[in-house]
Amino acid sequence: MSFFVKYALLFFVISFMTFLYLPLLCLYYALSFYFMRGHVSSSTMMQYCHDWLGMFLVSLSNFLCFKLTFAVCSIIIIIISRLHFSDYPIHISTNYCLFADLEACVWLEESLKKFERILVVISHSQDFLNGVCTNIIHMQSKKLKIYTGNYDQYVQTRGDLEENQMKQYKWEQEQIANMKEYIARFGHGSAKLARQAQSKEKTLAKMERGGLTEKVVRDQVLVFRFTDVGKLPPPVLQFSEVSFGYTPENLIYKNIDFGVDLDSRIALVGPNGAGKSTLLKLMTGDLFPSDGMVKRHNHLRIAQYHQHLAEKLDLDVPALQFMMSEYPGNEEEKMRAAIGRFGLTGKAQVMPMKNLSDGQKSRVIFAWLAYRQPQLLLLDEPTNHLDIETIDSLAEALNEWDGGMVLVSHDFRLINQVAHEIWVCADQKVTRWEGDIMDFKKHLKAKAGILD
Ligand SMILES: Nc1ncnc2c1ncn2[C@@H]1O[C@H](COP(=O)(O)OP(=O)(O)OP(=O)(O)O)[C@@H](O)[C@H]1O
Ligand SMILES: [Mg+2]
Repeated sequence: MSFFVKYALLFFVISFMTFLYLPLLCLYYALSFYFMRGHVSSSTMMQYCHDWLGMFLVSLSNFLCFKLTFAVCSIIIIIISRLHFSDYPIHISTNYCLFADLEACVWLEESLKKFERILVVISHSQDFLNGVCTNIIHMQSKKLKIYTGNYDQYVQTRGDLEENQMKQYKWEQEQIANMKEYIARFGHGSAKLARQAQSKEKTLAKMERGGLTEKVVRDQVLVFRFTDVGKLPPPVLQFSEVSFGYTPENLIYKNIDFGVDLDSRIALVGPNGAGKSTLLKLMTGDLFPSDGMVKRHNHLRIAQYHQHLAEKLDLDVPALQFMMSEYPGNEEEKMRAAIGRFGLTGKAQVMPMKNLSDGQKSRVIFAWLAYRQPQLLLLDEPTNHLDIETIDSLAEALNEWDGGMVLVSHDFRLINQVAHEIWVCADQKVTRWEGDIMDFKKHLKAKAGILD
């Protein structure tokens, strides 16, 4: 019940009690008047009436004063409560680090861990939710369910609860089926059996009245799939003494050497502006080195995912039409299947893309990229509009796929799931980090002076 509803109820209860006071007062004087008749002189009676009228007016004015005071108090309390709420220490934050780097995410996570007020956060980073949250609210079938603990605990508790719910559901359904069968078979049999059937009918009705356990609605898990591409002999992409700067006096990379092949599973990390996206553009050939050489295998197919791809979509066109125009000469069914593989099915394929959510648009992009059957995937912040389950699906698809991958992401968990190497972009160099991403996270914490 909201604060204002409670307050309104209190107001009416007190008003009602005060209203009762006046009729009771009148009744008291009327009875006194009745019993005094004949016992006192008429002048005393007149005096009494006068007193009664005086008392009534005083009571009435008291009542009106009370109402007035109450109304004024109500207004003051409401104003105070509004002011109070407007400054209330609730912070609502949504997808907080879309463009932050790992360092900023670590700092934010540590700061929010120590934040002593109420924080409501919407995030797709499981790692962050584990670090910061003490309660999880799950939205499903237009209902909210609150779980205590961080994200991992929520997954565990929800799993246990759903398992129990499913057991209970199956047990109830079995009972109901048995009872219905008995009623159908013996309801019109001998008197004794019919009586038992009637009793089962009552039990059944009672069970239904009490509310039956609902079947567990499983989350729709999207299964991403990339087509296997076979092998190309290494090195498929070679950087030799590459230097690059957007302007000659401001080099982002100086004499970098490395190779990427189809077994590579690399996560590029580094602060904002370090040059991660620039390195990916050098890999694809969108940018050319100022010095040195980038050699690509003649048959290498590279696909790059970045958030700006979605901005380039013609939003008035449906996803299906977009795919048909990008890959002409293919049957509609084939294109439908290609988009469907990324979880966009039915009407969502034929409505203008402006009506799709950001996550759905990302899926169209993934479908478009995957259809090119790349051997090397360059993913620049691919998780920004994907929910946790979809991120897991992406990780699974990448792990099952046989191509090479270079990933830029602020999602520690995704990096942990798919990357075998961590490369740090900083100080005009690309250096291999000796350790996994969780070690790197500890390093960032230590650097920021926030080690546990
Ligand atoms: N088109 C451009 N022209 C000139 N300078 C650019 C251009 N694009 C990027 N830069 C500069 O190059 C540097 C590296 O940019 P880049 O986008 O590669 O960084 P990043 O590591 O991807 O950063 P973020 O984590 O913010 O995505 C930045 O200082 C940026 O200002
Ligand atoms: Mg970038």
